[in-house]
Amino acid sequence: MIKYQNVSKQYGKDSNSALKNVNLEIKAGEFVSFIGASGAGKSTLLKMLIGEAKPDRGGEIWIEDIRVDKIKSEFMPYLRRRIGVIFQDFKLLPSRTVYENVSLAMEVAGANKEEIKRDVPKLLDLVGIVAKSDRYPNELSGGEKQRVSIARALSHNPILLIADEPTGNLDKANTYEIITLLLKIHNSGTTVLLATHDQEVVDKLKKRVITIQDGEVVLDQEVGMYYI
Ligand SMILES: Nc1ncnc2c1ncn2[C@@H]1O[C@H](COP(=O)(O)OP(=O)(O)OP(=O)(O)O)[C@@H](O)[C@H]1O
Ligand SMILES: [Mg+2]
Repeated sequence: MIKYQNVSKQYGKDSNSALKNVNLEIKAGEFVSFIGASGAGKSTLLKMLIGEAKPDRGGEIWIEDIRVDKIKSEFMPYLRRRIGVIFQDFKLLPSRTVYENVSLAMEVAGANKEEIKRDVPKLLDLVGIVAKSDRYPNELSGGEKQRVSIARALSHNPILLIADEPTGNLDKANTYEIITLLLKIHNSGTTVLLATHDQEVVDKLKKRVITIQDGEVVLDQEVGMYYI
């Protein structure tokens, strides 16, 4: 489903390579974690899937039969609608309620009123926040905010969910809950890609783990295990 072929990236002439000749294949329905130190290149790898970073030196990025790094800008919104993205800092609209944060995203993506009325409560229920539909983001805990951002990311039924350090601002209990939710989403058939610093998280997941170090894939394990 996803293919990185000879992917390298140097952000500036004088900077070090952010990625060095990465080759990876990810099948539809996989749950893959990328682990590595700060600056290793995890976000850069994920950004390439949504066109926010482009490989240099002839590298190629494929999602199904789409060559993402060569996609025409007018087609990017169509690709983006098939991909849900969640971030460490949630990126919720502060002046909108929980319900509105999800409904507005659906509206922008072209959903009609009936679809919105039908789907928003379902999505909020799925992530366990339906009781707080009328709250504003500043009235929520970090874990609750991340649930809303996951509901929003799922609102257009993505085939791929990208989670870049989604538990970076959360305590242990909330981290566990968000990871459990990502597993539930994966179990319903969505491909999930997770970037994290957190070895404990990948140990718990027991899914494929790719270790990135200085822009290179140094380890690709079918089931993550503790390493030093
Ligand atoms: N927009 C940018 N301009 C210049 N350099 C960048 C840019 N984005 C990332 N880099 C550099 O590329 C390298 C990889 O960064 P990246 O954000 O992919 O790492 P990361 O593994 O996601 O780190 P973190 O765990 O801190 O999020 C780093 O050296 C970083 O400084
Ligand atoms: Mg990052």
